[in-house]
Amino acid sequence: MEKAFLIFTTALLTCAASGVSLKLCPNCGNTSVPYPLSTSAECGDPSYKIRCSSGSLMLDTLNNSYPIHSIHPQTQRLLIRPASLLSNTCVTSDKIHGGILLNSTLPFNITSSNTILYFNCTPILLLSPLNCSFSSFCHTYINATPSASPCLLAPICCTFRAGGSSNSYMIRVRDAGCSAYSSFVNLNPSLPLTSWPEPGLEIQWVSPPEPLCGSQLDCEGGNSTCAPDPSRSGVKRCFCNAGLVWDPIQGVCAEKITCQQSPDGCGGSDRTALIAGLTSGISAAVIIALVAVLLYKRHRRVKEAQERLIREREGILNASGAGRAAKLFSGKELKKATNNFSRDRLLGAGGYGEVYKGVLQDGTAVAVKCAKLGNAKSTDQVLNEVRILCQVHHRNLVGLLGCCVELDQPMMVYEFVENGTVLDHLSKGRSSLTWSHRLRVAHDTAQGLAYLHFSAVPPIYHRDVKSSNILLDNKLNAKVSDFGLSRLAETDLSHISTCAQGTLGYLDPEYYRNYQLTDKSDVYSFGVVLLELLTAQRAIDFNRPADDVNLAVYVHRMAEEEKVMEVIEPGLRNGATTLEVDTMKALAFLALGCLEERRQNRPSMKEVVEEIEYIIGIATSKHAQS
Ligand SMILES: *[C@@H]1O[C@H](CO)[C@@H](O)[C@H](O)[C@H]1NC(C)=O
Ligand SMILES: *[C@@H]1O[C@H](CO)[C@@H](O)[C@H](O)[C@H]1NC(C)=O
Ligand SMILES: *[C@@H]1O[C@H](CO)[C@@H](O)[C@H](O)[C@H]1NC(C)=O
Ligand SMILES: *[C@@H]1O[C@H](CO)[C@@H](O)[C@H](O)[C@H]1NC(C)=O
Ligand SMILES: *[C@@H]1O[C@H](CO)[C@@H](O)[C@H](O)[C@H]1NC(C)=O
Ligand SMILES: *[C@@H]1O[C@H](CO)[C@@H](O)[C@H](O)[C@H]1NC(C)=O
Repeated sequence: MEKAFLIFTTALLTCAASGVSLKLCPNCGNTSVPYPLSTSAECGDPSYKIRCSSGSLMLDTLNNSYPIHSIHPQTQRLLIRPASLLSNTCVTSDKIHGGILLNSTLPFNITSSNTILYFNCTPILLLSPLNCSFSSFCHTYINATPSASPCLLAPICCTFRAGGSSNSYMIRVRDAGCSAYSSFVNLNPSLPLTSWPEPGLEIQWVSPPEPLCGSQLDCEGGNSTCAPDPSRSGVKRCFCNAGLVWDPIQGVCAEKITCQQSPDGCGGSDRTALIAGLTSGISAAVIIALVAVLLYKRHRRVKEAQERLIREREGILNASGAGRAAKLFSGKELKKATNNFSRDRLLGAGGYGEVYKGVLQDGTAVAVKCAKLGNAKSTDQVLNEVRILCQVHHRNLVGLLGCCVELDQPMMVYEFVENGTVLDHLSKGRSSLTWSHRLRVAHDTAQGLAYLHFSAVPPIYHRDVKSSNILLDNKLNAKVSDFGLSRLAETDLSHISTCAQGTLGYLDPEYYRNYQLTDKSDVYSFGVVLLELLTAQRAIDFNRPADDVNLAVYVHRMAEEEKVMEVIEPGLRNGATTLEVDTMKALAFLALGCLEERRQNRPSMKEVVEEIEYIIGIATSKHAQS
């Protein structure tokens, strides 16, 4: 009670926000339109356009529009009603528009809370990474839903979770794929069908930047200044004045202290509030003295216990470590290094959580990864794994420096590699990587992995090799990151559950047979990375025709049709010398060798390194001659 009151008081004291001139859109019918959603050019943020049509809100997609059922400004999400089946068919009414296609340049995408059921699919979908098996619950749905009974005549249906496996801007419906779909938000498929939610599709919007302005008059709140946007020329925005920060959810300039922080952040004011409240009493002085003594005693006890714990943890981390010792970072240290995990330090978010850039007190740049490890492992086990991983050193591996287990989520601290991931370099039309760069990236990566497999003791299987886990430094040397992280997430190596590890599109197909990942699983994933280097295409891309969604399947088919050169990135292939073409083909065939269905037919990582060295040898020998 008392504590709740204190926190409440603290919140009032420190979190008062101040208004910026935001032109909120008027209600649409009875529904309010929260910032930044915009129903006209004069209100909201115009790039977050929705439409108010006779009292109801609509979301326009490229070819169609869908009614908005609800809006949740706090989570920046809204729910639309997907199209339904045309009567007596297994075809949704939006099939003529190609399904739901969001304009990918707009700030909306489809969230991973959606479970999509695809109906009436062609057999080609069986090759896709979607779950089209007989046990997939799209069958349960068809069997129990009278309006979907026409779908019983079309035996192939598939299920997938959006976001992770699908392009997050579209649910494609067409003859060459599936003709109908439905979608459910936060579906728990183990519940009986009668408890399933209404069909819905959840869409998320990106946090809006500061509001646009023409002149200072538009920022009349007095807490912001109309200034040119450094990231977009010709555009001006109301930037918050010093001491205030932009809160994109409330759409205001708020004071820098945020409310949801751990007591650490607001600790000082707690006591101020307590004391302020009590001084009004007559015996205030006595009570203050008493409280001070109690606080001091408690403080000392807590401090002693903490120090003991830290000594124990450091003991585990340094136990019989031969190489560099792992460091135990404190929560305070990491908060300071990352400016309290501020948004502008966020480097990315992936399967294992968020990564922030940090600068330690001594000036060392680091990447701090908040690991999503679940609670499968105890703190001691996490520390032990970190100790092992910290002893792994190789120029093609991103070094782990230590960890922090004191905040509610374990954090790994890595050396900082400045130049982005291989995926970044291959996408966004940034074809900055020449063929010889790519060969070198392939070689570096293979060497890093071969080191993990053959030189680390105990051997380490990466288990999540992918182009977004390979970083480049400013000399374009490749460094593999996140190795061994998945070891931390599970309880026992011999009992890997059916819960899929790794990333769709990179995952060893044999994993589905025996649920075990080996060094050859890394070889498979590396084969997919080689294909990405050759084609500059994504491992899974729903923008490709349904049978080519999976890059490995696609290239394999093209190779069988003797058209392997057609999949090489045009920018690489056009103008390449005969010798370059030969080395491209050679690398493509090495990739296909790594992608052999049977593990025993794939080369080991050592053999892969040798093969790439051979290819590089050919590429450079000619260079020398010409
Ligand atoms: C708006 O709310 C009023 C009062 O709650 C209700 O009578 C009216 O039917 C609502 N209008 C719409 C369009 O929902
Ligand atoms: C959907 O719209 C896009 C762009 O407006 C267009 O290229 C495409 O052909 C349309 N698709 C269908 C199925 O109408
Ligand atoms: C997508 O949105 C952008 C930005 O509003 C717009 O310029 C573009 O024309 C849209 N694309 C299509 C195909 O409508
Ligand atoms: C497909 O989904 C069903 C039901 O959730 C599950 O039992 C099955 O293992 C899944 N199959 C694959 C290949 O993921
Ligand atoms: C969708 O948008 C959200 C909000 O910006 C972002 O965090 C998320 O990564 C996006 N998802 C994809 C798959 O682009
Ligand atoms: C500006 O911010 C201060 C403190 O953050 C607040 O007290 C004041 O009311 C704000 N001014 C306006 C006009 O919102």
